[in-house]
Amino acid sequence: MAHLLSTSCSLKIHSTSKSYPKPLNQGLLSFPTSFTLQTPRFSFRRLVLKGERPQRICTVHATTLPISQEAPTQPSSSSHQTSNEPSKPKRVMIIGGDGYCGWATALHLSNKNYEVAIVDSLVRRLFDHQLGLDSLTPISSIHNRLRRWKSLTGKNIELFIGDICDFEFLSETFKSFEPDAVVHFGEQRSAPYSMIDRSRAVFTQNNNVIGTLNVLFAIKEFGEQCHLVKLGTMGEYGTPNIDIEEGYITITHNGRTDTLPYPKQASSFYHLSKVHDSNNIAFTCKAWGIRATDLNQGVVYGVRTDETEMHEELCNRFDYDGVFGTALNRFCVQAAVGHPLTVYGKGGQTRGYLDIRDTVQCVELAIANPAQPGEFRVFNQFTEQFSVNELATLVTKAGEKLGLNVETISVPNPRVEAEEHYYNAKHTKLIELGLQPHLLSDSLIDSLLNFTIKFQDRVDRKQIMPSVSWRKIGVKPRTVSA
Ligand SMILES: NC(=O)c1ccc[n+]([C@@H]2O[C@H](COP(=O)([O-])OP(=O)(O)OC[C@H]3O[C@@H](n4cnc5c(N)ncnc54)[C@H](O)[C@@H]3O)[C@@H](O)[C@H]2O)c1
Repeated sequence: MAHLLSTSCSLKIHSTSKSYPKPLNQGLLSFPTSFTLQTPRFSFRRLVLKGERPQRICTVHATTLPISQEAPTQPSSSSHQTSNEPSKPKRVMIIGGDGYCGWATALHLSNKNYEVAIVDSLVRRLFDHQLGLDSLTPISSIHNRLRRWKSLTGKNIELFIGDICDFEFLSETFKSFEPDAVVHFGEQRSAPYSMIDRSRAVFTQNNNVIGTLNVLFAIKEFGEQCHLVKLGTMGEYGTPNIDIEEGYITITHNGRTDTLPYPKQASSFYHLSKVHDSNNIAFTCKAWGIRATDLNQGVVYGVRTDETEMHEELCNRFDYDGVFGTALNRFCVQAAVGHPLTVYGKGGQTRGYLDIRDTVQCVELAIANPAQPGEFRVFNQFTEQFSVNELATLVTKAGEKLGLNVETISVPNPRVEAEEHYYNAKHTKLIELGLQPHLLSDSLIDSLLNFTIKFQDRVDRKQIMPSVSWRKIGVKPRTVSA
């Protein structure tokens, strides 16, 4: 199975400068003379410039985007600072930038004048093809998306297509782009997908854990000052019967007190991969002085951001199926097409939620306020918590206002999880940094419902019911009938 999931195309290159995913001289020509010379990355570039790098044969899994000069390029911001300027992170690599959160974030940061590069294997598009799923919204190819962005704004987003589990590819992208910050969204992110069968469980943990490990090694090797902003999930904590803190908890035990990582109780092979990631990141912060922020994100809803609104070719994906769809987005689609809202079991499952406009805001805040060298910072990234039943009630009321007859049914819970439980998770750190949340209001649900109604002809009703059972996961490869 794993071999089916690799999308990288192999290109053998037998030279020094040609082994880089992007022509290096593009960046070099714009180098200001005042650039701080003592950084390790300068020495690397200088070596490349002089052609002093040892000859070797390497396999590069990458393409660059041949963007034609469709619009005049605006004066770009540069990370190369004069000596009296404070050091600000400017060059941001978005791993997983073709996905739901990554695409919205890449455009948002580009609009805010960050120099942005997207790194993506496009494996998510492959999952959809393999499982027969599709986004509710038609989404353009990554190449067309970026061309459109450039033609509308004049801003260039670099593109590196490849798999971050391939360290050769990843290291070339690091050396070529030289990020000040890496935002890592690039994982297999569906709990049901990881519970389809053994091969998907193995793929998920391999893809996520090795990918993140490679990112950590790349930072250590090629950009030790680079700030890692890693997308974790609130699901790492599970549903403990005490308040959930932001990453750490102070415990007094047998008369001694310590502040320790908050206990994790993940409930799928996907969530477990995130816990392993967090442990690896925490360890490398301690051992190598890496600076990292783990954003334990809640469930994201919504689709529109200021930038994706600018043109239909910039439209984000919107998943509503039983494998990749998230709760509120799914309920809105179900209401729009007259399908009963599918509450799993008792519906008391409570989680943190946030609007996709807040995802992009949170990431921007984390980048603008980087962790210190050696610091492993954890933020709980959500704005409100709801039970599944509460969401169903909100969607029902909003549907009624639009004249929809919305029913709710309880379906057997395909997951193994508490269906009624205590839940109170802290989420103050991003607010302290300036997050201004878009809370879930009636008007937002109305507009989400209207949005889903607009695309209702694209809904495949067969994709709606859950098709993956936590208890029935087996060794044999399964074809999921969505
Ligand atoms: N969507 C949510 O509600 C939500 C909630 C909590 C956390 N998160 C986290 O946010 C991140 C992004 O989620 P999303 O909803 O945008 O997912 P997504 O599936 O839409 O996007 C992930 C992107 O990463 C790419 N990718 C995956 N593995 C890769 C690899 N090895 N190399 C290069 N690219 C790779 C995929 O092709 C895809 O474009 C994930 O890490 C996820 O766990 C998402």
